[in-house]
Amino acid sequence: MFTCAYVTFDDPDQNDDEREPALAAWREAGIAGRAERWDDPGVRWQSYDAVVVRSVWDYLARRDEFLAWARHVETTTRLLNPSGVLERNTDKTYLRELGVPIVPTHWSAHDLPAWDEYVVKPAVSAGARDTIRTTDPGRARDHAAWLADSGRTPMVQPYLDMVESEGETSLLYFNRRFSHAVRRTPMLSPGMTGADHVRARPRTPDPDQIELAEKVLAAVPEPLLYARIDLVRLPDGSPVVIEVELTEPYLFLRYDPGAPAALARGLRELL
Ligand SMILES: Nc1ncnc2c1ncn2[C@@H]1O[C@H](COP(=O)(O)OP(=O)(O)O)[C@@H](O)[C@H]1O
Ligand SMILES: [Mg+2]
Repeated sequence: MFTCAYVTFDDPDQNDDEREPALAAWREAGIAGRAERWDDPGVRWQSYDAVVVRSVWDYLARRDEFLAWARHVETTTRLLNPSGVLERNTDKTYLRELGVPIVPTHWSAHDLPAWDEYVVKPAVSAGARDTIRTTDPGRARDHAAWLADSGRTPMVQPYLDMVESEGETSLLYFNRRFSHAVRRTPMLSPGMTGADHVRARPRTPDPDQIELAEKVLAAVPEPLLYARIDLVRLPDGSPVVIEVELTEPYLFLRYDPGAPAALARGLRELL
C-alpha cells in the first residue's frame, strides 16, 4: 500500500468537490490518500510516497511562498507535478516558450494592436482574476498599464468570440495519457461567476486539438501526473493554446465516469 498526500488549501466552503472522488479512486488502486493543507507547518511531507498538488487555490497572492514550499517538499519526497513545472507554469509567460501556436498576445501596455475587442489579463492569474473584456482601446491600455504599474506582466489579446459558440476545449491527460475532454463555459460573458469555472459539458476533441495538445506535452520534459490543455480557435479555424494548466487545475472528473480511475492509474504508474 502506498501513501500519498492530496494537497489542498484552507477550504472552509468545501469548494474542492473532486477531493472525495479522487481519494476513493486512489484507494481502489491501492493508494491511501490523505488531504493535507500545503501551508500546514505540522505535516511530515517526507512520510508520504508522493505529495500530489491539487486544490491549492489560494497560492496566487502567495506565489513565492508556495514555490518555496514546493521546492522544500521536493527535497524530502516525490512532488507531483514537480516544483520546476509549478514554477514555470504559474506565470503565463511560459506560453512564449512552448513553440506551439497560442492566442495572439501583446505583452505590454504600449502600442496595442487594433482589434475589435480586447481581453486584458495579468500573466499570473487564475479564475479570470483582474481580467477585463472591452471594445475600448483606451480602457484596454489603461488596464494593461495598471497591471504593469503594480509589477505584473500584462497580456493583451483579441477577444475570441468562438468561446461562446464552439467554446473553449479542455483536454485532460493523466501521466501523459488522454483521459477526457470538456467544453468550457465562456467566462467573460455577463453574469458569469466563479462557479461557472467548473461548469462544463463532455466533449470529444477533434484530431487537430489532440495533435496540438500532444505537442504541448512533448514540450515539457518532466513527469506530469496531470495536465489540462485549454484550447480555442482563431477566426481561420486553427486551434491555439489559451492556457496550459499544470499546477492546480480543476480536472472535471465528474464529466467522465472513467476519469477518477485514470488519475489513480497515472499516479500508481509514477510511484
Ligand atoms: N482572448 C480571449 N478571448 C475570449 N475569452 C477569453 C480570452 N482570454 C480569456 N478568456 C476567457 O477567460 C477565461 C480565463 O482566462 P484564462 O486565460 O484561461 O486565464 P485563467 O483561467 O488563468 O484566469 C477563459 O477560460 C475564457 O473563458
Ligand atoms: Mg483558464
